[in-house]
Formats: sequence, C-alpha cells, structure tokens
Amino acid sequence: MMQRFSISLDTGLLNSFDNYISNKNYSNRSEAVRDLIRQSLIKEEWERDKMVMGVITVVYDHHQPKLQEKITAIQHDASCHIISATHVHMNHDNCLEVIIVKDLADSVANLSASLSAIRGIRDCQLIMTSTGKEIG
Ligand code: NI
Repeated sequence: MMQRFSISLDTGLLNSFDNYISNKNYSNRSEAVRDLIRQSLIKEEWERDKMVMGVITVVYDHHQPKLQEKITAIQHDASCHIISATHVHMNHDNCLEVIIVKDLADSVANLSASLSAIRGIRDCQLIMTSTGKEIG
C-alpha cells in the first residue's frame, strides 16, 4: 500500500535535489526519494552486519601461475555462503569471475577483501546489495 507524506525543505536544498533528480533522469521526486531511502536502508544493513547479498567481480590474467587456483581455493575455504560463481573468458589474457554471495555483511566483505588482496588481480569490486527483506 502506498502512503503519502509531505516534506518541508528550504529552497536551496530543494533546488539541489531537483538538479540531482534531473541529472539522474528521474521523472518525479517520489521515485528519487524512494531510491534514496532504499540506498540508506541497504547501507545500514551492511553497517549493522545483517544478512545481505553481495556481488563480487574479479578480473585477472589467467596466464599468471597459480592465480586461478588461489581464487578458487579462497572461495572453497570461505565461511560465507556462495550462491554462484560464473567464469567468463573475456579475451586471450583476461578472465572475469562474478561471485554471488548471501551471508552476514562482514563475511561477504571479508571474502571480497581476501580476493582483492591476491597479488595479480587486476580489478576486484564488491556490489553491496540487499536480500530485499528490509527494503520493502
Ligand atoms: Ni577464463
């Protein structure tokens, strides 16, 4: 069910918000406010070490000795629940691994940090998202 509420803002802040909305291509203020609220709730889930979903992307050169084995070993030894790991051969040198994880926020962040710290990894990023339970 949708509920309405009104917000009082000073003119300067409202102008900044309208510029933000326009730059992000929102069609109205309500949709932008909903997204900002959800983003804040997700951030809080991560800060409070709640059950979350994370997507870790890893780019590396598979020619580097032992690198692929290390990436696989860390995932097998991880204490968190890995839902899927997808490997893409991007070109002659580079591989992309996309790892989807559901667990407590700290465990997911630790897995990402462990992968990121492996020597030879070209890029490692963590998308912090939600199980969806707390964002409606
Ligand atoms: Ni590959």
